[in-house]
Amino acid sequence: MKTIGYAVVGTGYFGAELSRIMAQQEGAKIVAVLDPENGEKVSKELKCDLETDLDILCSRSDIDAVIVATPNYLHKGPVIKAAKHKKHVFCEKPIALNYNDCDEMVKTCKENNVIFMAGHIMNFFNGVHYAKELISKGVIGKVLYCHSARNGWEDKQSQISWKKIRAKSGGHLYHHIHELDCVLFIMDGIPKNVTMTGGNVAHQGEGFGDEDDMLFINMEFNDNRYAILEYGSAFRWPEHYVLIQGTKGAIKLDLMNCGGILRLNGENDYFLIHETQEEDDDRTRIYKSTEMDGAIQYGKPGKKPPIWLHSVMQKEMNFFNSVLHGETVPDEFKPLMDGSAARAAIATADAATLSLIENRKVAICEIIMN
Ligand SMILES: NC(=O)c1ccc[n+]([C@@H]2O[C@H](COP(=O)([O-])OP(=O)(O)OC[C@H]3O[C@@H](n4cnc5c(N)ncnc54)[C@H](O)[C@@H]3O)[C@@H](O)[C@H]2O)c1
Repeated sequence: MKTIGYAVVGTGYFGAELSRIMAQQEGAKIVAVLDPENGEKVSKELKCDLETDLDILCSRSDIDAVIVATPNYLHKGPVIKAAKHKKHVFCEKPIALNYNDCDEMVKTCKENNVIFMAGHIMNFFNGVHYAKELISKGVIGKVLYCHSARNGWEDKQSQISWKKIRAKSGGHLYHHIHELDCVLFIMDGIPKNVTMTGGNVAHQGEGFGDEDDMLFINMEFNDNRYAILEYGSAFRWPEHYVLIQGTKGAIKLDLMNCGGILRLNGENDYFLIHETQEEDDDRTRIYKSTEMDGAIQYGKPGKKPPIWLHSVMQKEMNFFNSVLHGETVPDEFKPLMDGSAARAAIATADAATLSLIENRKVAICEIIMN
């Protein structure tokens, strides 16, 4: 088996663990990392090169693919540069903070004939895969409505992370694009119209970032189907779930009391969200034991992801590596590899943002012109 050479740009909380995981995949080698603050430590741990210049890193002939895990507002530069140097790309979510950037990133990868994979990790959850399977088999009938919530309460912070600054993270909607992406997969397409209300209702001033802490997104899909998403850090009753309502039954993906429920004729059938009961229980434990609710809790450099997240990151890296080794992409994952999931999520988030700014319903065709 050929060895694929990987570089990782951004080795903080997530990038460091992606590097460790990729280093353990068959036929994969981490050749170099680049991160002005945390690269040196990771390069020593993984015994790989430390690069300080993106051009030099991307010009290396022993690097075939670049994994981008920089802060959200810094994804575009490394993705475009890697693609122009004919390197395959894995980019963390949210792919970009506006549709034009996302489109340019996807197009540049296509023009240079390299793979672009969107790091929409929820698609690798066991429970999400199972829910999609139940829906495609018609078990819950036609899906009429999805409702997701990713809410909690946040106290003052001693240090304000980039994750709390709207211009750097995109705020809750972009930073936690997982639920939006999941709902778009379940609704099998993008909404016609989007309306968002909300604002920063309880987190202004010292000790807080500038993101909105309460967001309500209302999406209208074709054929009389709807979705509502809630996000924010101004909710004293934390919740984290995706609820799917069909004509014959319903599915709840509960990420807080972690587990999946299929409800048919008033009877509940339970399934795992992650790989094992231990992983689901550990996620529940984390949500119940942390002072700040887990749904809006953030990692930082040096911190290790919990076991459920580590396990799904392994699945994601294993998948990317297998595709680079020539494995066929199953239909379920094609939108992650052809730019469509990235474009759909960012276009919808942009429509929601415009709606809030202009206080009106926004048609998705205002964002995606062709
Ligand atoms: N899929 C998931 O569940 C998930 C979870 C956490 C984070 N993420 C994503 O991963 C990315 C990184 O998040 P994180 O939690 O690791 O943040 P982090 O702050 O822990 O790490 C970011 C790292 O990027 C480095 N960096 C900053 N500017 C850089 C540059 N120009 N070039 C190279 N490196 C640079 C920083 O020094 C830092 O080490 C984000 O896009 C985030 O949304 C995804």
